[in-house]
Amino acid sequence: MKKNIIYNGDCTEILTKKIEENSIDLVFADPPYNLSGNGLHWKGNKTGGDWFMVNEEWDKMTAPEYMQFTRKWIAGCHKALKNNGAIYIACSYHNIGEVMIVLKQLDYKINNIITWYKTNAMPNMTRRVFTHATEFVIWAVKGSGWTFNYEKIKEINPEKQKDGTDKQMRDFWEMPLVQGKERLRGEDGKALHPTQKPEEMLKRIIIASSNEGDVVLDPFMGSGTTAFVAQKYGRNFIGIEREKKYVEATKKRLGL
Ligand SMILES: C[S@@+](CC[C@H](N)C(=O)[O-])C[C@H]1O[C@@H](n2cnc3c(N)ncnc32)[C@H](O)[C@@H]1O
Repeated sequence: MKKNIIYNGDCTEILTKKIEENSIDLVFADPPYNLSGNGLHWKGNKTGGDWFMVNEEWDKMTAPEYMQFTRKWIAGCHKALKNNGAIYIACSYHNIGEVMIVLKQLDYKINNIITWYKTNAMPNMTRRVFTHATEFVIWAVKGSGWTFNYEKIKEINPEKQKDGTDKQMRDFWEMPLVQGKERLRGEDGKALHPTQKPEEMLKRIIIASSNEGDVVLDPFMGSGTTAFVAQKYGRNFIGIEREKKYVEATKKRLGL
């Protein structure tokens, strides 16, 4: 099986056609949350310039379509994972229900639901609900022999004990939405990808649940964050992405 490659196509097909069964150590998946469609935007926002809610064609499905899609790609990852493999799935209140149901139906064991507290979350435009400032990352495993590099995770935990020694990492991660130098920009200067994930998030996941030389798969590669961090820490990667422009951007990011 080819490694260190980005496939351009639909992950539900590529997972079955190109990825060998029981070959993957770790999956990170940041699927469409199915939240697009209402076209919310805030022109002239004073704090960070014009703001547009994610509004992408790949993110618009009916509820039954979304359930079916979720089942299909998570089942594809299940087949691809080794028996001691792990999957981390990013989600929000929009899709955590569907993801959890499918994981349970496929007999995955849920190890953690990590809360990502977005320290620079967007303001609430409707003023009718509490401001959403969290997303989740579900960590589930296929069998009982999963990898967890406990000591390494303690070492990289930015939180320390009062005496300065390493501290266990909790399932509550404070980090900002990607901005500044880390945010990839297109030729027009605008954010290249609407949902680029923080490298710090992938660093924690990859260090916790894989070892050097392992294979990390991302079925929704986007701007290539998973592959970039996997490469940095000596892991092999396989990425899948539907949109050609993101595949090209990822290749550039990785120096491929
Ligand atoms: C939420 S974004 C992932 C962002 C990524 N984590 C990053 O850091 O840039 C989801 C990505 O999945 C892609 N996508 C949507 N449906 C797909 C499918 N069926 N197969 C492969 N890619 C898909 C979209 O084009 C989008 O780039």
